[in-house]
Amino acid sequence: MSRWSLLSAPLRGPGFVLLMLVLLFRRSVRLWHESYLWDLERCAADLTGKTAVVTGATSGIGKAVSQELARRGARVILACRSWERGQQALAEIRAASKDDLLLLCQVDLSSMASIRSFARWLLQEYPEIHLLVNNAGICGFPRTLTLEGLDLTFATNYVGPFLLTNLLQAAH
Ligand SMILES: NC(=O)c1ccc[n+]([C@@H]2O[C@H](COP(=O)([O-])OP(=O)(O)OC[C@H]3O[C@@H](n4cnc5c(N)ncnc54)[C@H](OP(=O)(O)O)[C@@H]3O)[C@@H](O)[C@H]2O)c1
Repeated sequence: MSRWSLLSAPLRGPGFVLLMLVLLFRRSVRLWHESYLWDLERCAADLTGKTAVVTGATSGIGKAVSQELARRGARVILACRSWERGQQALAEIRAASKDDLLLLCQVDLSSMASIRSFARWLLQEYPEIHLLVNNAGICGFPRTLTLEGLDLTFATNYVGPFLLTNLLQAAH
């Protein structure tokens, strides 16, 4: 019996069926993944009446998250470091979400003083914060120290969000 005869007539049918089943299975998994997991429109969460704070909302993930929260009816507080970039993002999000419950605030997540004053103001104006998205972050090279003596990346990515979360949490 030749080496290739195993792949000849008797096995060709089942082999073809098996291959089709594998391809069908892979296609179904891909379709399920695309249509179910990544289709925001299919998630029916309504955030009307909720107040959300998103740090680092000037670009990337923060801007996209803010836009989606606003589209779902939440009041979104864009906590940004730069007033100019914040205003630009605010205008873009407002145009896309047609929502007027957006508010821009300035806070530097690498400065504990800035976070404390932001949290104080925030809790005075909005005693109920339902969602906090600690999104702002940097990848800092070269190593720099903040005025408060903390490593800039560590302060922005860890200590700042930790402090903000605790200050807001303590009020509830
Ligand atoms: N994209 C990825 O693949 C990825 C992967 C892993 C983790 N992440 C993390 O996910 C988050 C968002 O990523 P991204 O790609 O959307 O980043 P991005 O486009 O660079 O946006 C970062 C945001 O953080 C803000 N920010 C930086 N330092 C700040 C400070 N001291 N105070 C207040 N805001 C500050 C920036 O504001 P300015 O406009 O003022 O710079 C900007 O709005 C970051 O924390 C990032 O580390 C992202």
